[in-house]
Amino acid sequence: MPAQDGRIYLVTGGTSGIGYESAKALAAAGAHVIIAARNPQRGQEAIERIRQEMPDAQLQFEALDLADLASVKALATRLDSTLPHLDGLINNAGLMEPAERGTSADGLEIQFAVNYLGHFALTEELLPLLQKADNPRVVTLSSIAARARGAAINFADLQFEQDYDASLAYRQSKLACLMFALELQRRSDVAGWGITSIASHPGVSYTNLLPSQGRSLPPLPFLFQTAAQGAIPTLYAATAPDAIGGRYYGPTGLMEVRGPLGLARVPANALDAQAVARLWSVSETLSRTHYPSSPLAD
Ligand SMILES: NC(=O)c1ccc[n+]([C@@H]2O[C@H](COP(=O)([O-])OP(=O)(O)OC[C@H]3O[C@@H](n4cnc5c(N)ncnc54)[C@H](OP(=O)(O)O)[C@@H]3O)[C@@H](O)[C@H]2O)c1
Repeated sequence: MPAQDGRIYLVTGGTSGIGYESAKALAAAGAHVIIAARNPQRGQEAIERIRQEMPDAQLQFEALDLADLASVKALATRLDSTLPHLDGLINNAGLMEPAERGTSADGLEIQFAVNYLGHFALTEELLPLLQKADNPRVVTLSSIAARARGAAINFADLQFEQDYDASLAYRQSKLACLMFALELQRRSDVAGWGITSIASHPGVSYTNLLPSQGRSLPPLPFLFQTAAQGAIPTLYAATAPDAIGGRYYGPTGLMEVRGPLGLARVPANALDAQAVARLWSVSETLSRTHYPSSPLAD
């Protein structure tokens, strides 16, 4: 990774797993890293763990609950009045397949709200701060789940109110993240927002994502990656001079579950221009945000 001195990154979900490893690696390269997540104690513990290895690491914790749009807005307002610029936003936080259908403070299905819509809103709110940086990047985490069987944007029942299926709701949320990352680049190009937007995924990596929901990964550790390995595509997307806007990076071995970094397969669903436009419009309505308009962007 090139030296990151003077650059400021915000990593959502930086208290654990891939977000923690991303925050740590960015800090090691000299960046100022803001770890944003729900629990200040877990935030402090993450910072202390990193500082045990790197006493001079520049880290700060900011409270963010992506399941509450008021919390998203409050974070953006705080950062707007304290940061000179934001060089990188890493839309990483997430949860996976709660057995019972949960809802956000705004009444939305919890995986859609946290994994996708909160990040959609956060990115819009932070756009002015990103635009103050040289070469600002937004990296949004998707998943191989976005191209798993049944992965689709379920416009007829976007919030899975009628027939809750935890896996399909997770797949929808990660497909939405991928569509968002690619569309953000397209709109930025058309409207001149000056943002580089890239999608990434970690293959399958051992983190708290599954056990936190009371389940465990299959006992095949040799198949999967460590959280640090899983962070590589995100870190590449966030910092590599040759990472390209509008691309999707991930591991390229064994069905993209692990292996060397490269371009990830983009499912056809993610390229359906009509669905992408509809999702964007619905997301602006649901999140009560409006990206800068451009007659050519829609
Ligand atoms: N692990 C994998 O194999 C895998 C595969 C494909 C994609 N991914 C994606 O990778 C990303 C990171 O997952 P991970 O595996 O590192 O999971 P993890 O270890 O469970 O970490 C999830 C992070 O998200 C934060 N978070 C959860 N709910 C939040 C909320 N409402 N508001 C703000 N932050 C919240 C958690 O922080 P607090 O609890 O402290 O708030 C935690 O830091 C996710 O987007 C996931 O979909 C992971």
